[in-house]
Amino acid sequence: EEAPFTFDMNTGLQIQEQTADEDATVVEYTSDNGSPYPHPYQYQRIGDNGPLLLQDTHLLELFGSFDRERIPERVVHARGAGAHGYFEVTNADFAKNYTMMDMLSENGLRTPITIRFSTVGGESGSADEARDPRGFAVKFRTRKGILDLVMNNTPVFFIRDPTKFPPFIHTQKRHPASHLRDKDMFWDYLGSNPESLYQVMRLFSDLGTPYGFRHMHAWTGHTYRWVKRDGSWVYVKLYAESMQGVKNFTNTDATAIAGSNPDFATQDLYDSIQNGTYPGWTMFAQVLTAEEAETFKYNVLDLTKDWGFDDVPKTEIGKFYLTQNPDNYFAEIEQAAFTPSHTVDGWAPSADPVLQARLFSYSDTQRYRLGVNHMQIPVNAPIDAVANFQRDGAMNVNGNQGSRPNYLSTLQKIQLPPRPYVDDMHQQWTGGAVASLSAVTEIDFDWPRRFWNSLSAQDQQNLIDNVVGHLGAAPTESVRQRMASLFYHANAILGQAIANGVGVEVTALTFPDGPTWFNTTKDTQNSTLDY
Ligand code: HEM
Repeated sequence: EEAPFTFDMNTGLQIQEQTADEDATVVEYTSDNGSPYPHPYQYQRIGDNGPLLLQDTHLLELFGSFDRERIPERVVHARGAGAHGYFEVTNADFAKNYTMMDMLSENGLRTPITIRFSTVGGESGSADEARDPRGFAVKFRTRKGILDLVMNNTPVFFIRDPTKFPPFIHTQKRHPASHLRDKDMFWDYLGSNPESLYQVMRLFSDLGTPYGFRHMHAWTGHTYRWVKRDGSWVYVKLYAESMQGVKNFTNTDATAIAGSNPDFATQDLYDSIQNGTYPGWTMFAQVLTAEEAETFKYNVLDLTKDWGFDDVPKTEIGKFYLTQNPDNYFAEIEQAAFTPSHTVDGWAPSADPVLQARLFSYSDTQRYRLGVNHMQIPVNAPIDAVANFQRDGAMNVNGNQGSRPNYLSTLQKIQLPPRPYVDDMHQQWTGGAVASLSAVTEIDFDWPRRFWNSLSAQDQQNLIDNVVGHLGAAPTESVRQRMASLFYHANAILGQAIANGVGVEVTALTFPDGPTWFNTTKDTQNSTLDY
């Protein structure tokens, strides 16, 4: 096993050799202003039983601070756990063919990382074995700025229209009146937005209840672009494969664990790192040129479609490991701000509309959740110097860029780096994306069928049982019927079993044909659930 890195919160996150654990330094108790104070439990009152004194500033500080301990939790992905480690390049020759990314430029080059895993719908204290996608956000502190890969443990997502995200999330959280998770609302949305079906099937297979955070893969989901210094680019998706292998709970086990140890995943991650069993993932890339994307069977800007490794082969580019637990969860994990808008030269968004909307949403929520200067918090600050014209604001704690001019001055010049390339957005493939993304057509049932056919008989049965258990509890018959009919349209055996289980008759649904390049007969594959 490689020597781990030390993530030092106090010295600007320098990479250091790990040293033996030192005893916690003994410190003297003080008030907030650093003045030694004799006893934390002491307070001032008149006589033995009289009222308290306003002059007791230690007491005032204690409550003033406590009263403000909670900050807004993340609006989604509130429940999570994280750790630090490093990424190491293993195939710079391949990567350099396609991207100028500094962090991929030399074999053996290591970049310090922080990862936060999460569930999506639950509040920050909810059970982390809930049936839910898992977030898998990686912060790379590269020599040339921060890159965040804000991934999930699934190659696709429920939506491909960004405007659906807030209402969709509402249906997966609590009902406005009852404040309960509401199965009618949950399935009403999914049944009337059929492009979500593949993600729904993954969620209701045992992939929806992973055994902790170490035993799952991660996907960027969206198509991004790798760009070279000459401005040429390709489409790329990244995929991280767990070295621990995929392991899931059955619904019965997940329910039991959620009751007996709702912190199971958090504890599993923490304990394994503490024991020196560092979890690792191998990072792969899938690449398509713009020309190949034109004739590819799926719209590459459609987040509900996977590329599939049979269709677009994957090539290893590196490995990453988690080697260090946080010293302080709030400082290093809760305050971490991941966003797809943290990009570096060589890594660029595609025109996927959901991705484009995410470029706004994350930093915006973080300005609210953590404050306008959240990039100065040590876990978020880049390791290279920041020089720009952003100034002031609440909690500006790092010197505010000193006396440097706060505009493009002719008196004291700021060095402007050479513009590395001209990103010619006109070259981007559009392929009818805007029109074909929103309308549900036959092509939207291709991946649900591929997924169903890839499952073992046992995994197919578990999927049916998991859906029946949940959908069966939706009170409204039309909601259950619409959803069962959608499953039926994807696969008759699946849909009929669900319809029987939830007590409805299926109705035949029809959808327009997919785009002309779409041909379902090509699409049989035999992978297993560990994909
Ligand atoms: C967290 C918005 C889709 C992965 C968040 C947060 C917001 C958000 C506001 C909270 C961020 C914070 O408080 O720091 C959106 C919007 C989406 C979208 C508007 C679509 C329009 C996605 C997709 C993925 C994803 C497609 C994965 C491919 C994550 C992850 C986190 C997160 C992993 C947790 C990050 C952390 O651990 O701090 N999202 N999201 N989201 N999102 Fe999304």
